[in-house]
Amino acid sequence: MNEEQRLQSQQVKTVDPSDKKSEKDYSKYFQRVFMPPSMKDAKRRGKEAVKYHEDFSIPEEFLGMGKGRKFYIRTYGCQMNEHDTEVMAGILMQLGYEPTDQPEDANVILLNTCAIRENAENKVFGEIGHLKPLKMEKPDLLLGVCGCMSQEESVVNKLLKQYQYVDMVFGTHNIHRLPHILNEAYMAKEMVVEVWSKEGDVVENLPKVRQGKIKAWVNIMYGCDKFCTYCIVPYTRGKERSRRPEDIIQEVRQLAAQGYKEITLLGQNVNAYGKDFTDMEYGLGDLMDDLRKIDIPRIRFTTSHPRDFDDHLIEVLAKKGNLMEHIHLPVQSGSSEILKIMARKYTREQYLELVRKIKKAIPDVALTTDIIVGFPNETEEQFEETLSLVREVGFESAYTFIYSPREGTPAAKMKDNVPMEVKKERLQRLNELVNELSAKAMKKYEGKIVEVLVEGESKNNPDVLAGYTRRNKLVNFKGPKSAIGQIVKVKITEAKTWTLNGEMVVEREAVEVK
Ligand code: SAH
Ligand code: SF4
Ligand code: F3S
Repeated sequence: MNEEQRLQSQQVKTVDPSDKKSEKDYSKYFQRVFMPPSMKDAKRRGKEAVKYHEDFSIPEEFLGMGKGRKFYIRTYGCQMNEHDTEVMAGILMQLGYEPTDQPEDANVILLNTCAIRENAENKVFGEIGHLKPLKMEKPDLLLGVCGCMSQEESVVNKLLKQYQYVDMVFGTHNIHRLPHILNEAYMAKEMVVEVWSKEGDVVENLPKVRQGKIKAWVNIMYGCDKFCTYCIVPYTRGKERSRRPEDIIQEVRQLAAQGYKEITLLGQNVNAYGKDFTDMEYGLGDLMDDLRKIDIPRIRFTTSHPRDFDDHLIEVLAKKGNLMEHIHLPVQSGSSEILKIMARKYTREQYLELVRKIKKAIPDVALTTDIIVGFPNETEEQFEETLSLVREVGFESAYTFIYSPREGTPAAKMKDNVPMEVKKERLQRLNELVNELSAKAMKKYEGKIVEVLVEGESKNNPDVLAGYTRRNKLVNFKGPKSAIGQIVKVKITEAKTWTLNGEMVVEREAVEVK
C-alpha cells in the first residue's frame, strides 16, 4: 500500500470527535482507529457543562495485558505533562506492565511531548528517529507519541508521512483510553491515531504512580481559555475546566496520610479555578483556605495568571502557615503595547499594581516570572520596558524565552521585523539582569537560618543533601541521611547565583527563620 492508499484506507474509518456519543458507541469504530486532531475544533469553546466521570476503571478483558512486559515513558513538557506521565504509569501498572528506565528493555515506549516552542518539537522528532533502529530490531515493541504535540494536526500529518513506524498517537484528553489504544495497537497493522480535539470532561479516580514520596502534583483544573496570541496551550489542552473541590481535598488528604510533605496544585491558569462552576461561587482563594487546614506541611500552586489574581487569594496567602510565600507570576513583557498584542489583558501598570498589593500583604514574598523576548515587531524601547519592569519588581528568578511562532496561533501570522540576532542579544541582556537580581536575592540569605524540605542527596555529591526552602531556593548542605523527607533548619554559609550552601543546625540554635 502506498502512502496515499494508506491514508485513504484510514480516512474511511474517521470518527468525528465532536460527535458526542457515549464511549460504547465508539467501540464499533475500533477495528482500526483513526481520529486525527483538528486545530479548528480545538479552538471552539462550547457552552455545555463539564461532565464529571467518577468511575474510571480498567475493563476486565485488558487486565494482564502487560504481564511480562515493560514500559518506558520519556517526558518533555511542563509539570502538567509530568503529572500526565504519572497517570499513564499508573494505568500501565494496573494493566500489569512493569516500569524500566532503559528504552532497550521496554515493550512499550511512550514519548509524552511538549509543543510550547519549536525546539521542544524538534527534540521529539529527533528522538523518534533515534528509536527507529530499536523498533526495527524489536517488531513487537510499541512506540507511542502522546502529549501536547499529538494534539497538533501538522504533527500528526508529519508522523503519518515520515514516521510510519510509530504505532500509536493519542492526545491529552484521552489518556484514560490508554488500555483501549494499546489493545488496538497490538491488533492493528497501521498506526493507531486517537486524538480528541474537543473535550469538556473531567475524569476522576485515575490511577497514579507518583515519582517520589515527598512531593506530589495535584491537578486542580485542566485547559486554558486565555488564548494569548503566541500560545499553543489552549489548542492542545482544551477548555478550562475545574475539578470539584471535594475531589481535590480528598486527594490532598490522602497524600497527607501517605506521608507526603509538599503538594503543588497544577493548572495552566490556576487563578481561573472555579470560574466554570455553575452551582457555586468558589475560587482559588476558597480552595487554598480549605486546603491550608489539612495537615500537610507545604502547599504551592502554579501557574498564576495576573489577570485573575484576586484580593481574596492574596488575603488567604497572607495567612502563610503551610501556604508558601512564593508566587510564580508570568508577566511575559513590560510593555503595555506588546501585552495588548499578546492579548494578556493587563497593562504594565496593572501588573505593577498587583505586585504592590501582593508585597504589601506578604512583604517577604518571592516573586518569579516568565518572559518572552522578540515578540513580532518588539522595539528596543519596548524591550527596555521589560528590563525596567524586571528591575522594579525584583524577580528572584525568571524563565526567559525567545518568541517561537506556533502554527495555528494568531501571532504566527504576524509579520515580524526583528532579526534573530537582535532577539538573541535581547535574551542575553535580559538574562544578565535576571542573574544579577537572583544573586542579590540569594546574598540576603547568608548567615540566615532557613527551613529546608530535604529531597535527597545532591546530584553532584552523594555526601551532600539537597532540598528547597519555603521560597523555593535550592539549598545544598551536609547532614545525616535520616533528614531525607524531613523539614530541617539549615544555616546558610554561602550564596551562589542560583543555589545556597549551608549547614544543618539543631533546633535550639534557631533564631531567625527565613
Ligand atoms: N499558563 C502559563 C504558561 C504556560 S507556558 C502562563 O500563562 O503563564 C510557559 C511559558 O512558555 C509561558 O509563560 C511563556 O513565557 C512561554 N511561551 C509560551 N508560548 C511561547 C511561544 N510561542 N514562544 C516562546 N515562549 C512561549
Ligand atoms: Fe498560554 Fe496564555 Fe493560557 Fe498561559 S494563559 S497557557 S500563556 S494561553
Ligand atoms: Fe508543553 Fe503542553 Fe505543558 S505544550 S508546556 S506540555 S501544557
